[in-house]
Amino acid sequence: MPRLGVNIDHVATLRQARSGRDPDPLAAAVLVELAGADGLVVHLREDRRHIQDRDLALLREIVQTKLNLEMAAEESMAKIALTTKPHLVTLVPERRQELTTEGGLEVAGRRDRIQRIIELLHDGGIPISLFIEPDLDQIKAAHKVAADYVELHTGRYANARRQKEEQTELEALSQAAKLAYKLGMGVSAGHGLNYRNVKRLTQVPEIVEYNIGHSIIARAVLVGLERAVREMKQLIS
Ligand code: PXP
Repeated sequence: MPRLGVNIDHVATLRQARSGRDPDPLAAAVLVELAGADGLVVHLREDRRHIQDRDLALLREIVQTKLNLEMAAEESMAKIALTTKPHLVTLVPERRQELTTEGGLEVAGRRDRIQRIIELLHDGGIPISLFIEPDLDQIKAAHKVAADYVELHTGRYANARRQKEEQTELEALSQAAKLAYKLGMGVSAGHGLNYRNVKRLTQVPEIVEYNIGHSIIARAVLVGLERAVREMKQLIS
């Protein structure tokens, strides 16, 4: 059965909107694990727009499943990872102005730099996943820099408007997953996956883990809203 990693960045986004303490991503992590998730995912961004260093340190203490830290391929981030020792580091591209991680990591064109960061983290005993487009050259490059896993960026699949386009993207994901598996890397997938589009992707047997954030947190807001309102109404009555 495929594993589910839940990205809780958006719980922190909501907290940062008021620079306060609620909702606490640590509480969310506990609930996510109790609900049966196989792991937690957080992205410590350079601009610290959601997850903070303190969250990461505390999550490392309390997460009982697996903590997957997404970060830019930078020495300053590698230092933090080597101190925190998450179960997995996923290297992702990062641009300050972007709303979210908008594309895969360019591995083929930046092999030396990425390999240096991977070596640093491997020396610290941390396995590495690379968040890349479902592109065969990127897969081969990921293998060359000794990545342990690849996470296939599913953004184009998730954004496909027409069935034909979705089928083309599904095929690209399937080919990329097959090659990564053949080269001995573990395969996961994520970005833009939701309650409507994830099912078709499970036809790709090489994908053994899904990392999903926004759609789960968005749904939690809606399915939890009725109870939250009722509880407040009761308090003031
Ligand atoms: N995997 C990676 C590597 C990501 O960067 C993100 C987005 O932060 C996700 C998965 C989750 O994407 P979404 O929030 O669209 O489900």
